[in-house]
Amino acid sequence: MVVVAQLVEHSPVERAVVGSNPTDHPIYPLPQSSLQSICIKKQCIITPIMDNIMFRKLKKADLPQIWTDIDRSESVDSVYVNIDEGIKLKKVNFEAKGWPPGEVEKYQPILTNCFDRGGYFLGGFVGQKMIAVVILDQKFIGKNEDTLQLKFLHIGRTYRKKGLGGKLFRIAAKEARRLGAKKLYVSATENMNTVDFYKHMGCTLAKDINKELYKLEPNDIHLEYKL
Ligand SMILES: CC(C)(COP(=O)(O)OP(=O)(O)OC[C@H]1O[C@@H](n2cnc3c(N)ncnc32)[C@H](O)[C@@H]1OP(=O)(O)O)[C@@H](O)C(=O)NCCC(=O)NCCS
Repeated sequence: MVVVAQLVEHSPVERAVVGSNPTDHPIYPLPQSSLQSICIKKQCIITPIMDNIMFRKLKKADLPQIWTDIDRSESVDSVYVNIDEGIKLKKVNFEAKGWPPGEVEKYQPILTNCFDRGGYFLGGFVGQKMIAVVILDQKFIGKNEDTLQLKFLHIGRTYRKKGLGGKLFRIAAKEARRLGAKKLYVSATENMNTVDFYKHMGCTLAKDINKELYKLEPNDIHLEYKL
């Protein structure tokens, strides 16, 4: 089954998530009828898998599901490494079977602190299972204190390459803009797929490397995105 749908700019996902008054509607399904009514004119294709995803702001009690539900596995054949002149590609060959060892212990308190200071946490769910998450920190950073960190963006393995990461990135960017930020800061996993995704979205190498975030993830590729 194929639904004719609009997938650019304010796509059904973005409309459903950011809506007119998100706090009044904590759950944002993508009803078939709204997809059809929005999309008839624009003539794009949306895959049925996207129809089942519900989006909502996360509660603190949802945070452990990030680690238990989202399939973080990935086949990695190239990574970027930081060099003086920028970054360069390096061939590798490994299967990341899930969250890297120590990642949960390291990031659970970081995410909890981010939540406690009012971070923006949006999850995508299929039934009760969390399949995607995007997190935007609310703490301004950078020498001009005009930058917000895109703290986390993960799409479960079987849901990648279907437009979801791009949409959640754009939603976080829109939220950051709403909060008055001029830039997003991304400390990106060095895997080629991740960095190329961010480059495709318009990110460039960060000019103002955040020392604290660099110390936390020295192998990451530190990027920025002008809002
Ligand atoms: C990186 C990740 C978030 C991307 O999400 P995704 O749902 O696979 O990406 P999308 O399908 O939404 O792609 C959005 C756009 O980026 C492009 N894109 C995606 N991956 C790309 C790649 N490797 N190279 C170039 N472009 C890419 C898509 O073609 C699409 O372009 P379009 O909007 O012009 O059509 C996802 O693959 C993921 O969660 N990976 C594992 C976890 C991870 O690395 N998270 C980031 C940690 S910092």
